Amino acid sequence: MEGTSQWVTDEILHDGAEARTIAGIWIGTNAVMKIRRPKGYRHPSLDSSLTKRRLFAEARILVHLSNSEMPIPELLDFDEKTATLVMTRLSGVPLFNILRESTDFERVSKLMYSCGKMIRNLHSLGVSHGDLTTHNLLCDNHDSIQIIDFGLGRLAPEIEALGQDLQVLSECLSASHPSHSNAMDYVLNGYKDGNEDGLDKNEIITRFEEIRGRVRYHG
Ligand SMILES: Nc1ncnc2c1ncn2[C@@H]1O[C@H](COP(=O)(O)OP(=O)(O)OP(=O)(O)O)[C@@H](O)[C@H]1O
Ligand SMILES: [Mg+2]
Repeated sequence: MEGTSQWVTDEILHDGAEARTIAGIWIGTNAVMKIRRPKGYRHPSLDSSLTKRRLFAEARILVHLSNSEMPIPELLDFDEKTATLVMTRLSGVPLFNILRESTDFERVSKLMYSCGKMIRNLHSLGVSHGDLTTHNLLCDNHDSIQIIDFGLGRLAPEIEALGQDLQVLSECLSASHPSHSNAMDYVLNGYKDGNEDGLDKNEIITRFEEIRGRVRYHG
C-alpha cells in the first residue's frame, strides 16, 4: 500500500524488528501505516503464521473496541497480503518520554492513575493488551492517556493475561523509570476505580501480585 496514490508518507515513526511504523496522510486523514515484516531467522511458515496472528489480533481488537469510548486508533485499512494496517494517527506522545523528562511527581501520579483506569476499562471490555509498556501508552496535550499496539492482545482473555498486563507495566516502570518509584501504586489505584463490568478486579490484582511474587522468587 505504501507507494499507492492514496498514501503520502510523512515520516518514519519506528523501525522495529517486527514492524515498520510510518506516519503519513491516508486519503486526506492523518494516519499511521504499520507494516509487519517477516523475521529472517525464523522458519518461513512459522514466521508468516506469527506475523499473521499479530496482524489479525491488532485489527480484530481495534474493530472490537471501535464503538467503545476507548482512546485508540480507528482502523482505516487492512491488507493481509502485505501484512499492513492503516489507522488514524493519535496526537499523544509516548508516556516513556514524559516519565523520562518529568520531575513533576504530582503530574506523573495523575497520569499513572489515568493509565490504571484506562487499563481496567480495556479489561472490562474483554480485551488484554499483551505489551503494556510506556511506549504503547501515549499522553495527549490534555494529559489524557491513549493506547496503541494491540498485536499481542487477546479477546475474551483469562485472568492470567489480565494479571500479566499489570505485571508487564510494573516491570517496565521499575526497569525504565526507576525515579518514579511509586508509579505502580497509582496505576493500581486507578485500576480499582475503573469500570466494574467484566472479570473481578480484585481477583486480577491478586493474580498480578502472585505473578510478581513468582517472578521475584525465580528471578
Ligand atoms: N496510531 C498511532 N498514532 C500515533 N503514534 C503511533 C500510532 N501507532 C504507532 N505510533 C508510534 O509508533 C511507535 C511504534 O508503533 P507500535 O507500537 O504500534 O509498533 P511496534 O512496537 O513496532 O509494534 P509491535 O510491538 O506490534 O511489533 C509507537 O511507539 C508510537 O510512538
Ligand atoms: Mg509498540
